[in-house]
Amino acid sequence: MNDPTTIRRLYGRRQGHALRAGQAALVEELLPRIAVPADGPLDALRLFGDERALQVEIGFGAGEHLAGQATAAPDTGFIGCEPFLNGVVGALGHVRDGALDNVRIHMGDALEVIERLPDESLTRVYLLHPDPWPKARHAKRRMMNHGPLDLIAAKLRPGAEFRLGTDDPTYCRWSMMVMNQRRDFVWQAGTARDFLERPADWPETRYERKARRQGHEVWYFRYIRI
Ligand SMILES: C[S@@+](CC[C@H](N)C(=O)[O-])C[C@H]1O[C@@H](n2cnc3c(N)ncnc32)[C@H](O)[C@@H]1O
Repeated sequence: MNDPTTIRRLYGRRQGHALRAGQAALVEELLPRIAVPADGPLDALRLFGDERALQVEIGFGAGEHLAGQATAAPDTGFIGCEPFLNGVVGALGHVRDGALDNVRIHMGDALEVIERLPDESLTRVYLLHPDPWPKARHAKRRMMNHGPLDLIAAKLRPGAEFRLGTDDPTYCRWSMMVMNQRRDFVWQAGTARDFLERPADWPETRYERKARRQGHEVWYFRYIRI
């Protein structure tokens, strides 16, 4: 098994433009109320006060997909993880505007949170447009490697879903190769077009919209945990 910590070097920046006053207030006031506790084991009871089903989004960017899923499934608990401060601010804005009480945010590495959850506790994990780490010598840093995937597989319930979206042809091929080596996931592709069309219950992300504007193809993968 690869060490999941091989992913933990971050690609790109952690903070972009300076926060406006309203954004800084969200970070100071709303984030502490909905932040994932910094230490110790996590479960639905600790995070939401009941035994609800849990889903995790790894690297939610500006949070529009996280908010879309949380709005569609108000009884499910969503844990969004994103180290990029300006992205976290975007998600906090969605949480406030939608009065979403079923979202918890971790500003940092998703794997740090996932490893603290009980085995077989998640009904979905989303990984949408992960950082590509395009150089071959950095391929071990991609989230789509057996170390992180072993961890994700352990935390998904049997029958739960792992969703991956990408517009990067190298990452797409790499991910298909890695997933093809696994015996714990089955690809849900009924027809050849399945991975070319975004499922109706898969809100578009900002990154995806940008990719389409640039004329990129986008691929959508749904894997079921056996
Ligand atoms: C290309 S962006 C895509 C963002 C968003 N999913 C979208 O589709 O718009 C990749 C995101 O993954 C985040 N990321 C990278 N490594 C991460 C990690 N270990 N845990 C959580 N998020 C991570 C980055 O900060 C970045 O926001």
